Parts: sequence; C-alpha cells; structure tokens
Amino acid sequence: MLDKFEGRIIFYTGILLSIFLVGLIYAVTERNVNVPSCIPYDKPFTQGRIVQIDSNTYQVFYMAKMWAFDPAEVRLPVGSKVDFYLTSGDVVHGFMINTKNINMAAIPGALNKTSATFDKPDIYRVTCNEYCGAGHQSMQSEIIVNYK
Ligand code: CUA
Repeated sequence: MLDKFEGRIIFYTGILLSIFLVGLIYAVTERNVNVPSCIPYDKPFTQGRIVQIDSNTYQVFYMAKMWAFDPAEVRLPVGSKVDFYLTSGDVVHGFMINTKNINMAAIPGALNKTSATFDKPDIYRVTCNEYCGAGHQSMQSEIIVNYK
C-alpha cells in the first residue's frame, strides 16, 4: 500500500515534470529555441566533410580528434544555413562556435546535430571547451563567412 507522503511526492513530481515539459514545448514552438538533437548511433563518419545542398544550404560533418577539428577551415557565403554534424574519433571534446550560442559535445561513437544561420560576414572560431589532453588549448578551427 502506498504511503500518504509517498503519494504526495509522486503527485507533486508529476506536476513539476509537466511544467518542465510545457516549458520545453513552449521554448521550441513559440520562442524558436534550437534544441540540439542527439541522433541514434548510425555508423558515425570517420572524416570531416562539407556538403553543399543548394545555393545557401550546407551540411558540415565535423570530426573532433586530439587536437584538431576536421575540417580545420570552412568557407561559406553570407546567409548560409548550416546543419552541423559532430562526432569524435577518440575522447570527448567540446564544440563551441563563438558568438553563435552553439555548444555541443563530440562523443566517440555518437552523432550530435545542430543548425545555424550565418547572416553576418565574420570569422567564427570553433573551440574545444572540454579538457581533452595535452594539446587541448590549441584545438580550434574556423568558419569564415565572407562572400555573397
Ligand atoms: Cu578537444 Cu579539448
């Protein structure tokens, strides 16, 4: 038989979870907050690459490895919409795109995805922000957005 106190805890936990769920749905649908998706394991790639889908849509596949990102440099036209796919070839790395509010983890054997639009010409630095060994501080890459 369920204790009266336990019943209350379960009831209030249910209310709290519902509030979180409604908040999440509100953030995604009304506020357009981009929630990075975690894609089920599907043979993560072993090399970085850039795929152009149409004139301003790209996919960039990033392979993080001690202590560099592949590709090391990505050049894009202004206004590009990019889907980023990220995995790691060794340990857990960070993946932060400066000024774009993007922060993901590169996890061996898993694939993470997020999207961004680059409306402003700039050099966007990609930095590993998760300590990953002796060369961690030099693990960087660049996204150069500079042409129409
Ligand atoms: Cu890779 Cu720190």
